[in-house]
Amino acid sequence: MLIDGKKTANEIQAEIRSQIGLHKTRKPGLAVLLVGDNPASHTYVKYKRKACAEVGIVSTVIELAGSISESDLLKQIEKLNQNPAVDGILVQLPLPSHIDEKNITSAIDPLKDIDGFHPINVGKMLLGIDDGFFPCTPLGIKVLLEKHKIPVEGKHIVIVGRSNIVGKPLAAILMQKKPHCNATVTVAHSQSENLQQLTKSADILIAALGRPLFIKKEMVKPKSTIIDVGINRMPNGKLIGDVDFDEVSKVAGHITPVPGGIGPMTIAMLLQNTFKAFLKTLLVLFLFASCSQSPKDLCTHFEGTEMARPYQITVGKILSAKEKRLVEKVIQETFLDARTLFDNNDPGSEISKLNSASANTLIPLSKPLQDLLTLCDKIVSLSGGRFDPTVEPLEKLWKQTPNPTVDALQNACDATGWEHICIHNGIFKKDRPETALDLLGVSKGLCVDWIVERLEKLGFSDLLVKWSGEIRGIGHHPENRDWSVEVDPSLRVNEQPMAPLPLRDCAISTCVNRGYMIDPLTASPLYNRRSEAWNFERAIASVTVIAPTCALADALATAAMVFQTRSEAEKWAQEIVDLYPNVSFWILSHRDDR
Ligand code: GUN
Repeated sequence: MLIDGKKTANEIQAEIRSQIGLHKTRKPGLAVLLVGDNPASHTYVKYKRKACAEVGIVSTVIELAGSISESDLLKQIEKLNQNPAVDGILVQLPLPSHIDEKNITSAIDPLKDIDGFHPINVGKMLLGIDDGFFPCTPLGIKVLLEKHKIPVEGKHIVIVGRSNIVGKPLAAILMQKKPHCNATVTVAHSQSENLQQLTKSADILIAALGRPLFIKKEMVKPKSTIIDVGINRMPNGKLIGDVDFDEVSKVAGHITPVPGGIGPMTIAMLLQNTFKAFLKTLLVLFLFASCSQSPKDLCTHFEGTEMARPYQITVGKILSAKEKRLVEKVIQETFLDARTLFDNNDPGSEISKLNSASANTLIPLSKPLQDLLTLCDKIVSLSGGRFDPTVEPLEKLWKQTPNPTVDALQNACDATGWEHICIHNGIFKKDRPETALDLLGVSKGLCVDWIVERLEKLGFSDLLVKWSGEIRGIGHHPENRDWSVEVDPSLRVNEQPMAPLPLRDCAISTCVNRGYMIDPLTASPLYNRRSEAWNFERAIASVTVIAPTCALADALATAAMVFQTRSEAEKWAQEIVDLYPNVSFWILSHRDDR
């Protein structure tokens, strides 16, 4: 009997499409890195892209020359790790021989590793921890067996092929002490003796060795199940598997075809994993400004993207063409001011000049930067150094390599620390040349404050401004109600959707743990700590802060993020609320740690 992988994959895809359709705020995003011109890889990526479009996943394929260096490829991955619109990252394998695949797969954020190749996800799979990602082909095989009710528990499964993508992970999955697993697994390979004896003893034989028509009828047990993972393109263009289908299908009980068997299941699992990665972010990225554009809309909306982050600005009245131009001008000028002040990627920005200055040089600060650094100074001391804008050298180091040397780490640590900075009478000085600032943890909020304050000065008194995770509202909605911030309708608390939060002359900032934040107390990225302790569920998933200004909300949310557990962060948050009663915190972990 034929096991129709295409039909099962289509059913799974239809389910994913309808699930994604429920999410109105954002669609899942997949980034695919395709290196070189391997024709098979180009074909696979074309299918993956088509499948994404069919279910509503936004896919981006980044094609890179085969000559790209490993370090340039690592930089591309880091950019995607940090891009909040990208939920899943896939680097199509194989890579050119000068690139070490293990370095590449280890550089992908484990929370975005929808291929399941990162050592953390491989480790979780081996330990039977299900909250990571399983590689797509083995997962597709497991799901296909399950959906076709082929008994696995207690059966002898022989896998021919020991690759990292199929053979090894499949063996790890099928031998788990779990329902639909519990199999006796044998992994055979090119060095195995008595191969035919092994394959003939299999209740389920899985061929994943990449040799066309290798499995013949005399190698299989009558009435057994045959899973063919091979996809071999012959000189005439025809695709054939590792199993000689014509003769083996006559003795097998069940058999998968090529094409139309495991290939479509692999793609369905890629979609499923990408959707799973997206759902993980939804648990934390739940706020969006309510800027409804109904037919009776009484507001004027401005939208765009700045520093790769979307902004939405709503003015609570219908503006004339002249007013619109004025608001547009203020928005553009404010973003320009923000870039000129704190964009680390712009060598001409004020912050870049401070970062490249030599030790003990006296540099006069602009008033806005002086105010911002004064706020930073306050939060550094309130947070006991957890909020630390001088982690830039550590951040730079960890971005360059996932395994820095002890010397490099020591050098970066030596340059890190707020005590290396001195601000007196508007003059800046640092005592080490390598000390550098990254104000991203507070400057987005500041920019939102500037837009609100500058527009208010021009007489626009009803405003809702959102940029990235930062939102501030003043005045009212023209329907004479508070501005409100809605919660993603898919997020349920006690099975109920959450009510919108009113935003009455205050700001709200959400900081999400995407793994790349540096903890100054351990001098390493937050996700490193998670990986060592295997406590992803207990780490803080997101912090939302409501405060009078967006810069303050942003800075406090960033500071609270850098705690080991939710209960520690909440204890600190309570101390802050005692000091500032008009501030409130909302801290989420993936699982309750109390
Ligand atoms: N090359 C062959 N199979 C795969 C796969 O599942 N993922 C990636 N990234 N590359 C592959």
